Amino acid sequence: MLAIPDPHVRGGVELRPLESCDAEALFLAIDANRAYLRRWLPWLDQTRSPSDVRAFIEQNVDARRDDRALQLGICVDGGLRGAIGIHLVDWNNRSTSIGYWLDASLRGQGIMTACCSHVVAHLFDKLDLHRIVIRCAVENHRSRAIPERLGFVQEGVLRDAEWLYDHFVNLATYSRLRTD
Ligand SMILES: CC(C)(COP(=O)(O)OP(=O)(O)OC[C@H]1O[C@@H](n2cnc3c(N)ncnc32)[C@H](O)[C@@H]1OP(=O)(O)O)[C@@H](O)C(=O)NCCC(=O)NCCS
Repeated sequence: MLAIPDPHVRGGVELRPLESCDAEALFLAIDANRAYLRRWLPWLDQTRSPSDVRAFIEQNVDARRDDRALQLGICVDGGLRGAIGIHLVDWNNRSTSIGYWLDASLRGQGIMTACCSHVVAHLFDKLDLHRIVIRCAVENHRSRAIPERLGFVQEGVLRDAEWLYDHFVNLATYSRLRTD
């Protein structure tokens, strides 16, 4: 099974694998941030109930069991307030990508930068990966600031690479190599 990172990120902030029993709490966090998340994430309209979230979590529990992917909940002061996902791991090329979201009321405190830094260190040091990718909509400046803070290199812009409900967005692609 895909090794999980040390839960402790910093005071009051912990990461832990999402389990089915988190579905209700995660749905409440998503629903409270629906409009804010919908601006940049493509899955809000298909996430209408705790059972939708449970189905997503269960797919990810299976993926984790098969060493393919890992979804971590972000707990702040004990409450589930966001998530960070290690998407499909390409073991042949020792590469993966990550994605993330956080409750709007917790923005601006460096929580997500700390979580990403923690996960990136885990992927390089414990899983021996070589390359990590983060893709952000070009206009999603808060998201782009995270790879930029963490020393990722922008490789280019993928044109019209993501469909967001009624329009395409260009994706800025960043990578960091173990050797960077
Ligand atoms: C992307 C997202 C997680 C970024 O949140 P964020 O709060 O800006 O990111 P961080 O938690 O890393 O916080 C960074 C901010 O904290 C500040 N900060 C305070 N202490 C800090 C520290 N120790 N380290 C880093 N930054 C710190 C930074 O200066 C920055 O503030 P600024 O926005 O005023 O420049 C959030 O906007 C979000 O969930 N958006 C919706 C979903 C989304 O777009 N997901 C990404 C799809 S690609």
